Amino acid sequence: MTSTNVQTLLLLPGDGIGPEVTEEARRVAVHVAPDLQIDSAFFGGASYDQFGTPLTEAVMAQARSSDAILMGAVGGPKWDGVARDKRPEAALLAMRKNLDVYANLRPAFCFPSLAGASALKKELVEGLDIMIVRELTSGVYFGQPKTIETLANGERRGVDTQSYTTSEIRRVAARAFELARGRVRTSKFAGVLSCEKSNVMDSGLLWREEVTRLHAEQYGDVKLDHMLADAAAMHLVKAPKDINVLLADNLFGDILSDEAAMLTGSIGMLPSAALGDPGVPGLYEPVHGSAPDIAGKGLANPIAAILSLEMVMRWSLGRPETADRIFNAVNKALVDGARTADLGGSMSTRQMADAIMKHL
Ligand code: NAD
Ligand code: IPM
Ligand code: MN
Repeated sequence: MTSTNVQTLLLLPGDGIGPEVTEEARRVAVHVAPDLQIDSAFFGGASYDQFGTPLTEAVMAQARSSDAILMGAVGGPKWDGVARDKRPEAALLAMRKNLDVYANLRPAFCFPSLAGASALKKELVEGLDIMIVRELTSGVYFGQPKTIETLANGERRGVDTQSYTTSEIRRVAARAFELARGRVRTSKFAGVLSCEKSNVMDSGLLWREEVTRLHAEQYGDVKLDHMLADAAAMHLVKAPKDINVLLADNLFGDILSDEAAMLTGSIGMLPSAALGDPGVPGLYEPVHGSAPDIAGKGLANPIAAILSLEMVMRWSLGRPETADRIFNAVNKALVDGARTADLGGSMSTRQMADAIMKHL
């Protein structure tokens, strides 16, 4: 947080299409919040190329002292041979962990005019509005040991450790329950749908027990359902509108959110917010990656980045009217028929952003 009244946004454009979509979000930010101080820094592969590390201490410090951070995307084949701890993705994980932004909000919202663009039948996704809450700073992404070792017989063994503590589960579950309180529904899973594999994993069993306990203690007014994560993957394509707030651990949340993205028409549509305790800057990023296959061609859909900016306004900067303005402009552009290639159209990244800005 800054000591003055000026709010600060740090842009970390990153790699691949990251800089392309972040630039459009920046233009929107300048337009709707001219008082905002916007800085930009190298991150991911771009930082590795410049400084030999994907995340410098200076950028980490700058992130900590910002009100919000908006990332593009990191990674790409260029850095495939780089040591794991220097890979672009390591910067992303370190940023999340260092900021302790444990609650990752990934809304899957189907704009009415895009219901036909979904991989599913129109009637299954029309009106879809799911909030995925993914635990972001623990689980198999961070558990120790994490290693590739060579065994006595010469075989290699890769090890990752799934681990969750009571407090790690409770704090993210509390976020999910609180979000559900503000999203009243009448659908089958009208409150929180908590997903794990408690049938095979001890961490999954603990997850179910702790979520159930927290619910009984503090959130009895919110409906709580549990589902095994594999069944939830199925339910997401069978009857997605049954679901309101979907709570999952780091790995299951990663997978289920990509799946949910396709319900909305394209992964180029999905924004996200990673939030920690009050006072911690929020980390915002499109759910999509650096899309090496289309990078540099001006084809990327900038909507996920622009809606990530919408989430910045709503969740970190206390500007809900500005957030609404951005959201409505995206909706209007889509109603007008604005479509990038991933949505079946032919607009460039810039043209799509211009179509949105026309309505701001
Ligand atoms: P990806 O999301 O980059 O691409 C998957 C597919 O979706 C590709 O066909 C791509 O062209 C398309 N796509 C993605 N975003 C799009 C957009 N905005 N508009 C139009 N089409 C879009 O996933 P991937 O190919 O599995 O990963 C590529 C790299 O990105 C990897 O190095 C991966 O580690 C990294 N990655 C980074 C992040 C992040 O920075 N948050 C997230 C996911 C993947
Ligand atoms: C995401 C990405 C990241 C993740 C990768 C790039 C480390 O897939 O943000 O969804 O797995 O969390
Ligand atoms: Mn992912």
